[in-house]
Amino acid sequence: MGRVSLPDKYTTNMSEQLRRPRRNRRTAAIRAMAQETQLSVEHLVQPLFLMPGAGVSLEVASLPGTFRLSLDHLLQEIESCMNLGLRSFIMFPAVPEEHKDKTATYSYDPGNFYLQAARAIKQRFPECCLISDVAMDPYSVDGHDGLVQYGQIDNEATLPILARMGVAQAEADFDMLGPSDMMDGRVAALRRALDAAGYYNTGILSYTAKYASAFYGPFRDALDSAPRDEAGIPKDKKTYQMNPANRREALIEAELDTLEGADMLMVKPALHYLDVIAGIKQHTSLPVAAYHVSGECAMLLAACRNGWLDYEKAMPETLLSIRRAGADVILTYFAKDFAERNHM
Ligand code: PBG
Repeated sequence: MGRVSLPDKYTTNMSEQLRRPRRNRRTAAIRAMAQETQLSVEHLVQPLFLMPGAGVSLEVASLPGTFRLSLDHLLQEIESCMNLGLRSFIMFPAVPEEHKDKTATYSYDPGNFYLQAARAIKQRFPECCLISDVAMDPYSVDGHDGLVQYGQIDNEATLPILARMGVAQAEADFDMLGPSDMMDGRVAALRRALDAAGYYNTGILSYTAKYASAFYGPFRDALDSAPRDEAGIPKDKKTYQMNPANRREALIEAELDTLEGADMLMVKPALHYLDVIAGIKQHTSLPVAAYHVSGECAMLLAACRNGWLDYEKAMPETLLSIRRAGADVILTYFAKDFAERNHM
């Protein structure tokens, strides 16, 4: 039968194939020139879990290869990362139960081991970038990021606590603060408090679009920070973390964080929210970060340990995909592994 007639630009019959995309894939050198997205250690942030005491190294059962470390071990870990060119870190504290209370007072206690560790790290490695976590959950008996009052998360009562925590962290020499709590107005509250205390050089990496996700499990195991299962305490974080079904709402959060003075905008989780990363990237001129969270890393590790996937290939492809979606910065538990494999 006769040919279907197509507009001119598509008329390439088999003997006249003018455009051949495979030419740009022919050799490694050509492929490298044509590569649209680059992934290097400069883009990565290594999460670290800090324990009090000395000589402590406890593997997180649900995230093999990730350890909760006391400061002595943590300093060694940072040193080995720095030697690989990996120099950005986000640190979380595993706070002993006896330091937890309703209002997270330990978060700004001058004797706090997390604040002391930050000071020691920045003293020893002034050229590293050290990022904090601003939220109540590691310090809260309720296991929520905000203050629980009458069975609800009280937004306004939480802000001054976060601001006080943030100023204490700036004082401890963190380079950037990472508000992960999702309270309304927290970036502005932090920015104002920091500026008032003279810490106008301390940055804010805001968890802009943080979803109420099932993929934080291993992290909550590591810190023992899951919402406490008790009457009067909300069972989940759905009244502050975002609904996984929503994408446009992330743009509202991005706009607010920008107006409130955030220096970088983060999407979390990363892999299951690549469209959100791409959407925010399109709407902002600020650097965009993505948190490749514990459960997302655990999934890949489980498949690799089972022999179902090849870690050496699946791990870098995963990180590259997050970059391709638009992330300038990736927080991932694989940062050091990547740095080890790409060290020259
Ligand atoms: C809590 C916080 C969480 C993570 C970072 N900060 C857990 C939560 O919101 O319950 C998760 C990170 C990860 O899973 O890797 N402020």
